[in-house]
Amino acid sequence: MVEQRFVKETRCYKTFRVFPTDVNNYNTLFGGKLMAYIDDIASISAAKHCRRSAVTASTDSVDFLSPIPMTASVCLESFVTYTGRTSMEVFVKVITEDMLSGERHIAATSFLTFVALGEDKKPVPVPQVVPETEEEIQLHQTAVGRAHMRRHRREESKKFADFLTTTYSWE
Ligand SMILES: CC(C)(COP(=O)(O)OP(=O)(O)OC[C@H]1O[C@@H](n2cnc3c(N)ncnc32)[C@H](O)[C@@H]1OP(=O)(O)O)[C@@H](O)C(=O)NCCC(=O)NCCS
Repeated sequence: MVEQRFVKETRCYKTFRVFPTDVNNYNTLFGGKLMAYIDDIASISAAKHCRRSAVTASTDSVDFLSPIPMTASVCLESFVTYTGRTSMEVFVKVITEDMLSGERHIAATSFLTFVALGEDKKPVPVPQVVPETEEEIQLHQTAVGRAHMRRHRREESKKFADFLTTTYSWE
């Protein structure tokens, strides 16, 4: 029987506040900081799913939908939405909450792909993920299209890398 795991078993949350050292010139959260947190939490969801070492194979995009001010608390939620043979798609949702009014916004979203590795560092099969809630099912159903786009993009990236030079301009 194929091993399965529910999406809820992979769910992770991380809440933090924005300090002056975390902001850009506009006094809102620095994008690079958020991207590091996204990769961090997504890697935990992937590990909870496969219970092996897993590496980030790609990040589709990070869509910054609204700026995050210092008056907000930030909550990242991540979970595995889809699995291939050895890969796992992880979705990260960033919810901000104004600490005085309680008003919430989706400030950013991201999809990342992780690949489970065996002791020999080669990709190994992962359990299938089983969605249950409406949101999980919707993300699971739309994942096939995203996987297709990723495959296409990966081929393009390989062609692109073949064309690029590794020589620095001062050499
Ligand atoms: C990701 C990696 C393990 C894939 O290894 P590979 O030998 O090319 O593996 P394969 O071509 O057999 O692909 C294995 C799976 O990964 C998926 N995959 C590989 N590259 C991918 C990419 N760029 N985006 C999405 N999925 C990818 C494949 O679709 C396949 O999925 P499936 O088994 O579910 O069908 C390898 O490219 C690697 O080690 N990359 C560096 C990862 C890393 O260091 N991450 C940290 C970033 S600093």
